[in-house]
Amino acid sequence: MTLDLNLSGGEATRPYDPVVLGIESTAHTFGVGIATTSQVLACVDSTYQPKTGGIHPREAAEHHSRVAGRVLTEALERAGLGLKDVEAIAVALGPGMGPCLRVGATLARYLAVKYSKPLVPVNHAVAHVEIARFSTGFKDPLVIYIAGGNTIITTFVEGRYRIFGETLDIPLGNCLDSFAREVGLGFPGTPKVEELAQRGEKLLELPYVVKGQDLQFSGLLTKALRLVKEGERLEDVCYSLVETAYSMLVEVAERALSLTGKREVTLTGGVARSRILSEKLDKMAKLHSSVFKPVDPRYAGDNGAMIAYTGALAYSSGVTLSVEESRVKPLWRLDQVDVPWRSG
Ligand code: FE2
Repeated sequence: MTLDLNLSGGEATRPYDPVVLGIESTAHTFGVGIATTSQVLACVDSTYQPKTGGIHPREAAEHHSRVAGRVLTEALERAGLGLKDVEAIAVALGPGMGPCLRVGATLARYLAVKYSKPLVPVNHAVAHVEIARFSTGFKDPLVIYIAGGNTIITTFVEGRYRIFGETLDIPLGNCLDSFAREVGLGFPGTPKVEELAQRGEKLLELPYVVKGQDLQFSGLLTKALRLVKEGERLEDVCYSLVETAYSMLVEVAERALSLTGKREVTLTGGVARSRILSEKLDKMAKLHSSVFKPVDPRYAGDNGAMIAYTGALAYSSGVTLSVEESRVKPLWRLDQVDVPWRSG
């Protein structure tokens, strides 16, 4: 097969550009992507929707096991490839929910052994960063990574993505989703909270908790829910919640931008589709003569393409792992991962 290489957003042209299959299963989404370091060839995802409450890890893992075969087959069909055409199998080994991670890791090990392919470990958070760089075309951005499971401000410094601010309790996406669920707006909650926030008129006082470069959202969630119970208009509470939470985040991001002197700012993760947060970050970036662009909405939430693409970058730099070493790592932090594809 001849690959039509699209070099608009990826790494520099390489004579050797391996095709890598990537598996995502860290939380609610099971996804398979196929990519090189310069092009996404396929991205097929299936997301578990809890009937009530938040994500139940065992139920999500059962969903992943059920859909894995179909998702894998569909991804290969969309790419027009067979497993023999794939050079390596990448898998998100963490961070995430143990039972969910084990479904992806088991499939990856099976494929690696059966088809004699190298296994490539991918950190899920690094993959959110890399797919944002790929889709925006940014070379060296400050990255705001906001999702149901993470709130991290990061950028590349001396071989790794270093953390310049994170949540000390619940992630921002989780705060908004939990609020939405408790007041009956359903899941995912962020778009619905933002929709109501546009009709808010009164800014209510909520806990604004920034500790140095770190953030806390649980007090904000508790107080917002209490205000709803006390009879405040839901639109006003949504407006106040969004304004307070996003302002906390932008304050920390602005300090990180000043400190690191980066000229590009991107937003990635499930909350990256937020128009309100994007507008705030765009204004902040302009004040510092920087450019803001969020990740392509297709790759904002968890997806297989980001694992395949990051796997291709890692594999091209010689990163592989034996099946025996391929344990899942539910608490694998972003700043524990060496990033040799940028170090050179
Ligand atoms: Fe994620």
